[in-house]
Amino acid sequence: MTTTISGASGVSTARTYDSVLDLIGNTPLVRLNVLTQDLPASVYVKLDHYNPGGSSKDRIAANILRQAATDGVLKPGARIIETGQGNTSIGLALVGLLHGHESTVIAKPDLSRNKLNLLRLLGVHVIPGRFDVDKTDPEHAWAVAEAATAADDNLWWSRQQSIASNPAAHYATTGPELWHQTEGRITHFVAAIATGGTVSGTGRYLREQSPDIRVIGTTFDLPERPWADSALNKTFHRAPGYEELEQDWADNVDLDQLDVLEARTKGEVIDFGFQLARSEGLLLGPSSVLSIKIALELAATASPGDVIVAFSADHARDYASAEYDEQWLRDHDFGDIADRWFGVAPATSSVTDADSTATDADGSREPVASSVV
Ligand SMILES: Cc1ncc(COP(=O)(O)O)c(C=O)c1O
Repeated sequence: MTTTISGASGVSTARTYDSVLDLIGNTPLVRLNVLTQDLPASVYVKLDHYNPGGSSKDRIAANILRQAATDGVLKPGARIIETGQGNTSIGLALVGLLHGHESTVIAKPDLSRNKLNLLRLLGVHVIPGRFDVDKTDPEHAWAVAEAATAADDNLWWSRQQSIASNPAAHYATTGPELWHQTEGRITHFVAAIATGGTVSGTGRYLREQSPDIRVIGTTFDLPERPWADSALNKTFHRAPGYEELEQDWADNVDLDQLDVLEARTKGEVIDFGFQLARSEGLLLGPSSVLSIKIALELAATASPGDVIVAFSADHARDYASAEYDEQWLRDHDFGDIADRWFGVAPATSSVTDADSTATDADGSREPVASSVV
């Protein structure tokens, strides 16, 4: 008996591009085939790590800088200052440098070596800031950015939490791509929430095409930081006290675009990340795994013919020395997950820069971000 192995076959549909910036957007949508067996609905994943900076944040970086230049607030040659600790900083630095803008990133002291080195690879100037103090504290990264921009006309800070060109990027690109890629058959869109740009912009576009499309926001329920989720959930469900909490959420979280908010614990998501990799061959970051897990749960009770799309913001590689590292799991109370996927054994030699945690992916997004990636 022979098996047919699909994959690169020599029939080329590969294109040539004039600039790395032309690689932003138009990312693939791939169907799940193994975990969906016997489920009535299909589940697809939008793979945004195909963007050149490695994440969906390239989309917003391009749009934010374009809009700021058009509006005249980002002057030619001005320096970009950013408080994001990962994907957004990389996206802004990458797009910025190709348009003549150098970048400064305010990084928390324990930013992982991996992320620091990626920023340095792009020529970013890294200065210290903190996220473990109140936002009014002069050492908080936002306060450092505020003070720096006030003192220097040549510095420009995007404020991705509130700038309209963040969700507008997803409205202009992610939404139309998904509508086109599913030939208008998409029935559910599932995406993690940090600044809210993805879910708000994509959700708005899709619902304008078909008001019946359901938009599901996903978030981590972090036992170590229960305030994060309970606050988002409280706000979403308009539970008593939500008004005070609302001010903490990024302006770009448009709760009107959400039908449902779903939270899962970090442990169950990391565990499922291994299952996803070993069943579907998809190597994805925790926030992506979270949304796919929820998409599959929805698919189990969905109607035949429903098309559920989960959004994947980045690749597992960014978390290979943290959430997907055996020693990191054992050190962070996830020994049962390590046992399940690496075998029950005393921890061996793996030594990592385990400070790269998903919860730290983008410190500037606190408090919403801290509940997501
Ligand atoms: C890995 C990852 N997943 C999900 C998100 C959520 O995206 P948004 O900020 O559009 O809500 C982010 C945002 O920083 C992210 O870095």
